[in-house]
Amino acid sequence: MFESMVAPAKDAILSLMAIVNADTREDIINLTVGVYRDDSGATPVLNAVREAEKRLVMEQETKSYKGLVGDPGFSEYICQLVLGDNISTDKIAMSQTPGGSGALRVLSELIRIDQPDVTLWLSDPTWANHHPLLGSVGLKRKVYPYFDISNQSVRFEDLLASVEEMQAGEVMVLHGCCHNPTGCDLSSEQWTTLADIIASRGVVPLIDLAYHGLGDGLEADVAGVRCVAAKVPVAMISVSCSKNFGVYRDRVGCAIVTTPAARMAQIITAQLGAIARTLYSMPPDHGASVIKMILGDDELRSNWINELISMQSRVQRLRVSLAASLVRQSGDSSWDFIVRQKGMFSLIGTSDHGIEQLRDDHAVYLVGGGRINIAGLRDQQIDRLAAALIAVS
Ligand code: LMR
Repeated sequence: MFESMVAPAKDAILSLMAIVNADTREDIINLTVGVYRDDSGATPVLNAVREAEKRLVMEQETKSYKGLVGDPGFSEYICQLVLGDNISTDKIAMSQTPGGSGALRVLSELIRIDQPDVTLWLSDPTWANHHPLLGSVGLKRKVYPYFDISNQSVRFEDLLASVEEMQAGEVMVLHGCCHNPTGCDLSSEQWTTLADIIASRGVVPLIDLAYHGLGDGLEADVAGVRCVAAKVPVAMISVSCSKNFGVYRDRVGCAIVTTPAARMAQIITAQLGAIARTLYSMPPDHGASVIKMILGDDELRSNWINELISMQSRVQRLRVSLAASLVRQSGDSSWDFIVRQKGMFSLIGTSDHGIEQLRDDHAVYLVGGGRINIAGLRDQQIDRLAAALIAVS
């Protein structure tokens, strides 16, 4: 057993964490994994989370099992955050999941049970883990054009042309906001146009929402998701709480499926639970209980929203300062795209050789393909990073 087993390919993003940690040089600029860091370089536990954790420790009376879909109360709060206060939850299937990745996996299993031969369409480029994660259940995958790196914009006409090729029932994977890895989001007009077209063609959206609140704020970031969900009979949404609540290692997420009928929603919720049973039985409780407590308590909720706004504003400020430094030092105003983009990432397209030079000569780390995590930057590093990026571009 295992004698002929070979090591798996390294994860494109997470494998960099160990490499960066082993680098002993001073003042490393770590723009790799999508984790928020403050100006001291730390990823602190949010105060709202810490307070809720204290209360949970005091109040929790049992750690007995909750159930295959976790805590429905948690999922309802997440649904309201994503789809709005006025939604009727009867027609929505939902399950708490281990992170957004867990939601993506569970939803892809759900698709496979119903439509094993269906094709999933993923954006080019997309999050490095989308293909392995969604492909692991054996579904066919195709890509649709998304990003024009030469002018750092969405290839919207080409994207629409691809949607015209999609068959009814095929699944289009979209990024709800803060597109990973490009930071380039659809405008609200583009979301409306896309929603109309996918609705008329019978294409089924699967929207990955991992950075809710880190782009333009909690309401603005889900305007596109709500627009699509309102126009199609069935929309799937995978939600991650890792970044907006800073609970990365606690693995908190939610799989949501909007449906036309309460009966269908009940069946899908039962299927989500049955899928969980075959994968991990039930999701971890701690982080979800903390988030449920935050969302259900006015004071904790408002503290969390303020902390989220401060993370989002810091990322936006860093974008403005980095772009200004790049423009000033290079004399090239095209670096301004960094300000227009949203969330943690921009895809600046540095070559493999450039990435090596950045690492070896400047102690700057980014993800292959040239993705930078703006939220990993410290104010005092901005001019040095800008000079390094200009030197290798
Ligand atoms: C990222 O894209 O860096 C994050 O979503 C972390 C991960 O799991 O890849």
